Amino acid sequence: MTESDRSSFGSRFGVIVAMVGSAVGLGNIWRFPYMVGENGGAAFILIYLAFSFLISLPVFCAEFVIGRRGRSNAVGAFRKLAPGSKWYLGGFLSIIAVFLILSFYSVVGGWGIKYLVDSVALKFSAGAAGTDFGASFAAFSTGKVAPLVYMLIFVLVTAAVVVLGVQKGIERFSKWMMPLLFVLILVLVVRSAFLPGAGAGYSYLFRPDFSKITSETLIAALGQSFFSMSLGMGAIIIYGSYVKRSDNILNHSLITVSLDTVFALLAACAIMPAVFSFGVQPNQGPGLVFVTLPYIFTNMPLGSLVAVFFFISLLLAAVSSAISLVEVMVSFLIEECRCSRKLAVGISIATQAIFGTLCSLSLMPDSPLKVGGLTLFDLFDKISSDYVLTIGALLIVLFVGWKIKKANFMDEMTSGGTIRIPKWIALVIFWIIKVVAPLAILTILIFS
Ligand code: PFF
Repeated sequence: MTESDRSSFGSRFGVIVAMVGSAVGLGNIWRFPYMVGENGGAAFILIYLAFSFLISLPVFCAEFVIGRRGRSNAVGAFRKLAPGSKWYLGGFLSIIAVFLILSFYSVVGGWGIKYLVDSVALKFSAGAAGTDFGASFAAFSTGKVAPLVYMLIFVLVTAAVVVLGVQKGIERFSKWMMPLLFVLILVLVVRSAFLPGAGAGYSYLFRPDFSKITSETLIAALGQSFFSMSLGMGAIIIYGSYVKRSDNILNHSLITVSLDTVFALLAACAIMPAVFSFGVQPNQGPGLVFVTLPYIFTNMPLGSLVAVFFFISLLLAAVSSAISLVEVMVSFLIEECRCSRKLAVGISIATQAIFGTLCSLSLMPDSPLKVGGLTLFDLFDKISSDYVLTIGALLIVLFVGWKIKKANFMDEMTSGGTIRIPKWIALVIFWIIKVVAPLAILTILIFS
């Protein structure tokens, strides 16, 4: 495929919107609050912030450099940039990550659709205030049929956007929904702040108890940061490959990482005060947001309306992230296996549906789909971020630091010398990529 055959983003704004669209998703609004709740609150958040700017930001630049210089999918980019070497095998890790993540991501996306339907049916209006939302979530998510139907709808919607291709689908789609989601989360943050007992939520979020930090906390924070920023599995390689040579990599990376962090923190500030106010357990895992949000909606003026818009925008954020996952697999099938886009999307739908079904069924009370006491859902959720993305990110920084080398990295970061960024910043990022990040990631991996 020549450069002009490849799809590309239509505008610089479109690039940023699509990257932020990939980064901001269920990882911020569903996963981050429950990871905070499972890992003891403020101390986890501090470590998360440190990792995000000291490690994830450089990893983001590294993935971007590989994508834009390699102008290809994850496997192809490694092959082009290091011909004759075995580095391209690392690209296959991204395909494994796609399988693992898409399967539970689609299930949670399906939950989002179910909650949208419920909010349209006014199930979160003031009249529903006495409902036990924990019990209703448990009954729904451990069911046999309904979660599967909703999961399939999510899979099909995602596929429809990917079929439309990069510009028409992904870019046009993401432009409107992110700002809406942002405004709605702000509304929820404000409502949560005025709930009785909200203060306990803020202490939990902002008063660190460092005795709670274990090696588990470190790997969970690092994995969450990679997951949330779509790193370690080639999604940013693909999106980077669609970006023009004149675009500023540092600028795009910084904007994406910062906005992603803001969304995650806001989500936690919306959820945690309500968790304490309504007596929900902070460490109850993946159901946390779905149990807590309905309590907030039923306790606010116009709550039903806010719920409808909230779930619409949450779903669109989820879809814009899922399409970047699907795009990793689809571009691989198109460029490496010579499939048509439609066939590639078909293969992706089928695998997503099969693995999504297994994940969802594993949540049923007596399901045999468990490994070592963990449901497939929890297992995929945990190993994808804690290990697959982390190892993927390690390979990426090693590749850029030791194989691509400094001169090429600097050339890409400055778009061949045409973009002025302070040289010391690019150098600091390079040395983090070459030395600090690999050592940090390796240490955390070994100790966990
Ligand atoms: N970053 C997405 C989220 O926070 O929801 C999830 C994700 C998308 C992870 C794309 C990895 C990826 F390649």
